[in-house]
Amino acid sequence: MTDGAEALVELDGVRKEYGDVTAVDGIDFTIRRGEFFSLVGPSGCGKTTTLRMISGFERPTAGTVRLDGADAADIPPNERDTNLVFQHLSLFPHMTVGENVEYGLKKSGVDAATRTEKSKEYLGLVDLDGYYDRKPNELSGGQQQRVALARALVNEPNVLLFDEPLSSLDRKLRKQMQVELRQIHDQVDGSFFYVTHDQEVAMTLSDRMAVLNEGRVEQVGPPEEIYREPASPFVADFIGDTNLVDGTADGDAVRIGGEGGFIVSDGVDASGSVTVSIRPEDIDVVETDWDFAGEVVDRYFQGDQTQYVVEPETDGLTEVTVVMQGQRTPVERGETGHFRVQPGAAVVFPEATE
Ligand SMILES: Nc1ncnc2c1ncn2[C@@H]1O[C@H](COP(=O)(O)OP(=O)(O)OP(=O)(O)O)[C@@H](O)[C@H]1O
Ligand SMILES: [Mg+2]
Repeated sequence: MTDGAEALVELDGVRKEYGDVTAVDGIDFTIRRGEFFSLVGPSGCGKTTTLRMISGFERPTAGTVRLDGADAADIPPNERDTNLVFQHLSLFPHMTVGENVEYGLKKSGVDAATRTEKSKEYLGLVDLDGYYDRKPNELSGGQQQRVALARALVNEPNVLLFDEPLSSLDRKLRKQMQVELRQIHDQVDGSFFYVTHDQEVAMTLSDRMAVLNEGRVEQVGPPEEIYREPASPFVADFIGDTNLVDGTADGDAVRIGGEGGFIVSDGVDASGSVTVSIRPEDIDVVETDWDFAGEVVDRYFQGDQTQYVVEPETDGLTEVTVVMQGQRTPVERGETGHFRVQPGAAVVFPEATE
């Protein structure tokens, strides 16, 4: 570990093949003790497969999973210090909330008094004091989700694994549960490994995250770093919104468009065709010294911000999305506005880096 933090889960060259489908294509990352770590990527990129290899329900075709420093290859799922919270909750309908939460403790032979005490403690932690004797069907979706969380937490695992646990909830409840999940994480000792296709959720919750694309890790880091310094056009586009535009580099400056174009970056060590990522919020509407002019072809008011779709007059530059914060609406739909890319905001990717 570069910064001395302790590695709890280590994936080293991990692959998983199903027949001729490569679900996970040789990945490396480390989850540190106590960290909230997310794995984010589009549908089918290998997230669940990766999680199942950590939990032991799936064996890697190649590579090593280490748990707390030990090769996990021959450790069965029930002997791993991990616990899983699924997308579709699987509470036992005939048991009370309390019995559901205690189930794991009972199986490992913990006595009744301790079980009750522990389960009440963790029900309190997920804000369900007083629900001990209810049945799952007497709870709301969000409350059921919390019971499932308490049931996993009560075993006090080193690593809690989540597979899209909030995707069945409506937007408001999901936001609320996100905040609570982070607060709960901060109150317990274990690491959280959180799998989601929702980059917004991953950014909000994580200490660090890995971005997965077609079975490969494209980048690992804290959310801000990934947002501001994406390692590839895929990451720039998947994490947050961006404009990916073509540019030309001359070993120093990067120009967008031809003759009537503009310079977005200098000191770039690349030549020839490049791809440039420009975040919508990094483009300002200006009165003078603009980079490009363009017609606002669409305008979407979103409350806290307004999104413009602009058709630049610059050759070789197609539609650009611009986001303005606050109430200011300086250009109407159908009008021509003038725009400038904030200095230093463009991220340049040399092409053909594969
Ligand atoms: N048991 C299996 N047999 C064959 N192929 C599988 C199996 N499980 C997963 N796959 C394939 O492996 C790839 C990765 O699947 P995985 O479930 O890990 O994706 P995911 O990132 O979790 O997607 P989602 O966001 O949709 O849940 C997919 O192409 C999937 O079809
Ligand atoms: Mg999945």
